[in-house]
Amino acid sequence: MLICIPDVLSKQDVADFRRIMEAEGWEDGRSTAGAQSAEVKQNEQLAPDSPVARELGNRVIRALTANLLFISAAVPLRIFPPLFNRYRPGQYFGEHVDNCIRGDALTGLRIRTDLSVTLFLSEPDEYEGGELSIDDHQGSQRVKLPAGHLVLYPSTSLHGVTPVTRGARISSFFWLQSVIKDAHARRMTFDFDHAIQALVARLGRNDPEVRQLTNIYHNLIRHWAEM
Ligand code: NI
Repeated sequence: MLICIPDVLSKQDVADFRRIMEAEGWEDGRSTAGAQSAEVKQNEQLAPDSPVARELGNRVIRALTANLLFISAAVPLRIFPPLFNRYRPGQYFGEHVDNCIRGDALTGLRIRTDLSVTLFLSEPDEYEGGELSIDDHQGSQRVKLPAGHLVLYPSTSLHGVTPVTRGARISSFFWLQSVIKDAHARRMTFDFDHAIQALVARLGRNDPEVRQLTNIYHNLIRHWAEM
């Protein structure tokens, strides 16, 4: 299942990110690819361990942790330091597998990749092609979102980026380990939370049944949580 989260970064933040990235410069994107994906990957990225990438990555994480829709959808336990890439004409990322475990040498962080995230930093009209294509049980889906929006998708899916034919596609991408390992359970808690929030808007947080549903929501997370 794909979940799109709008307005994670403001347009002002996006412009600021873009200015900083352009000043930093780009390197071959294969440095972070696994054996299979390195053969089909042609793009550029900011050096993952550079202070600039880390600082921008921290800004992304701060924006994520303030985003209630993201928290509800992902229930994140650990978020891998965000990476930043660019595709120019002729560049693409063929269908590939994301490694199941990722380690970050700088921080020693190791995560099981449950969800993959692409945060778009180019507007759709700035480039042609460059769609994120994701194969899941509903077939192949193609995603291209406004700058500042992100898509969450299962790391278990085969996916890629179609060739860019004009302009440049700039994004941040990363993985996270969820508190809830099971994707089906995670989807149910997300839907449940969504319904509760609608009831809160109508009845308030202290309506007796809303209170009870909120308690059940927390008990479901407690039941499924692995930390
Ligand atoms: Ni990938």
